[in-house]
Amino acid sequence: MDKQINVHITGTGHAVPENILTNDDLSRIVDTNDEWITTRTGIKQRHIAEPHQKNSDFASAACLQAMADANCAPEEIDFIFMGTVTGDLIFPSTACRVQENIGAVNATAMDLSAACAGWIFGISVATACLRMGQGRKALVVGSEVLSRMMNWEDRSTCVLFGDGAGAVVLEVKDEEGGVLGIATHTDGRRIEMLNCPKGGTADPVTPEILAAKENKIHMKGNDVFKYAVRSMAGACREVLDQAQLTLDDIDLFIPHQANTRIISALASRLNVSEDKLLVNIQEYGNTSAASVPIGLNEARRSGRIKPGDHVLVAAFGGGFAWGAALFRF
Ligand code: UT7
Repeated sequence: MDKQINVHITGTGHAVPENILTNDDLSRIVDTNDEWITTRTGIKQRHIAEPHQKNSDFASAACLQAMADANCAPEEIDFIFMGTVTGDLIFPSTACRVQENIGAVNATAMDLSAACAGWIFGISVATACLRMGQGRKALVVGSEVLSRMMNWEDRSTCVLFGDGAGAVVLEVKDEEGGVLGIATHTDGRRIEMLNCPKGGTADPVTPEILAAKENKIHMKGNDVFKYAVRSMAGACREVLDQAQLTLDDIDLFIPHQANTRIISALASRLNVSEDKLLVNIQEYGNTSAASVPIGLNEARRSGRIKPGDHVLVAAFGGGFAWGAALFRF
């Protein structure tokens, strides 16, 4: 059998808006309070884009940081895969705007729509393309401005989400390690549990849809909660099996940051101890496709990931779409 091509993360970056919205700020907008949000979700604040800021601004900043970290020139980038459901335009891909902004003139750029799992789906596609020999370097970015999709009168959703971007450079290298396992899944029977029900081409925007805010995020939180824990746990076990490793081999687990209670339930299901768990939801809220790569960048920059470490990541979101990935650094 041919030797497997090793694909490594060689650079990471993230960017979030400077503007912060605290729980107390929110309590002045909707009927909520810091105590409810903190105990039910773990969120203390979120970063929210200002009106002049775009998804591609944050994605581009995160990509530039990741490229600098990887010591990689923009011309060397062969692919840009961008996980997002809040692109600058309906079409074309926001990844094309990122390509322009960062000067990655030789890249093929495209968006992947898998909600909160978008970055992991991007890792899956990028790894496959690099292993096929279609290129040597790819940027995989998860970036969202979910604040623009919020119904700011719906307290059950508007307190949860934040804006931001996280990116990595994936690179073909001779050394063993890098991407050791990837699992991706969707279940289209659950679309109604988490979506923007109208405003797409099936039901184009009308004054009635706008008035009813049916073009904004709707979620059946309790149902999503149950599926999220079960599905991410399953995907984590799959990637561990692929790599023939066990949870004891994992040095750091970065789950999607949607709710500390989901994170705790997942960690206890997998028997992951707190010292191996990354939690930053208090600072950012749920940034959808950006949440895992933001955590990854923070962990690397703070020295929490060392060479040789095994890092497990997992995400779950609308679709339903979910997945996990396992890396050796
Ligand atoms: O990233 C994509 C995946 N998304 C997720 O994984 C999110 C999954 N779901 C969740 O994280 C949780 O279900 C939520 C945080 C969304 C909700 O937490 P919950 O513990 O499931 O609350 P609930 O929906 O059962 O609501 C409990 C109560 C309700 O009041 P009553 O009916 O008991 O009087 C809600 O109206 O809490 C009320 N409530 C609030 N109260 C104050 C809902 N939102 C708020 C709020 N502030 N912001």
